[in-house]
Amino acid sequence: MPAPFQLRTPSLNDLGALAELGRATFVETFGDLYTPEDLHAFLTGVYSEKSVSEELNNPDLQFQVLTQEEELVGFAKIGPVHVPAENPDPSAMELWQLYVRQEFLGQGLGKKLMAWAEEQFAARKATDIYVSVFSENERAIRFYESHGFKKVGEYGFPVGDQIDLEWIMHKIGSSRK
Ligand SMILES: CC(C)(COP(=O)(O)OP(=O)(O)OC[C@H]1O[C@@H](n2cnc3c(N)ncnc32)[C@H](O)[C@@H]1OP(=O)(O)O)[C@@H](O)C(=O)NCCC(=O)NCCS
Repeated sequence: MPAPFQLRTPSLNDLGALAELGRATFVETFGDLYTPEDLHAFLTGVYSEKSVSEELNNPDLQFQVLTQEEELVGFAKIGPVHVPAENPDPSAMELWQLYVRQEFLGQGLGKKLMAWAEEQFAARKATDIYVSVFSENERAIRFYESHGFKKVGEYGFPVGDQIDLEWIMHKIGSSRK
């Protein structure tokens, strides 16, 4: 029987593995869309150990990793709203990232990480939840729609010299229902 999946809060001991997981899931999902130069510029900025350690130390951000036999197979990150949404409520929050390694997709692991994020949003009494998603990431859009998110806006997201069209998706937080 395959080993079970577990959720836990990462620590600075996970720094290298978490940065590697961020780079690997980004490349698996979006690697074909960019020139190697743009991809490299993005990955070394966003997923360097320095950036990830700053984020792990940032009290406004909460992380959760999904492991199987201590191997990191997915992660989620939530925090204050940083997408350019129109007049977000001060109590709104954002799902910053939700990524599962490609070989583990379609097993309900995205759902597990989303359930963790929803618990955190409810505990923090988030009135509204935002998420930003690449306009052509159909699987993720379908996933967010199935969790109640709807498109409310668009903006340009830079990856190296390339600008991608991102959707801003929104749902009402469970504490406001
Ligand atoms: C977005 C993402 C996290 C969603 O994860 P997912 O694996 O696609 O979706 P789930 O984990 O909810 O899996 C649901 C599917 O698994 C199936 N499944 C199998 N076993 C299951 C179980 N035990 N429990 C629940 N669902 C299960 C469901 O039937 C469902 O299939 P369906 O989509 O055909 O209805 C994932 O696609 C991902 O990481 N993608 C790459 C990174 C990415 O794009 N991130 C978002 C950037 S904005």
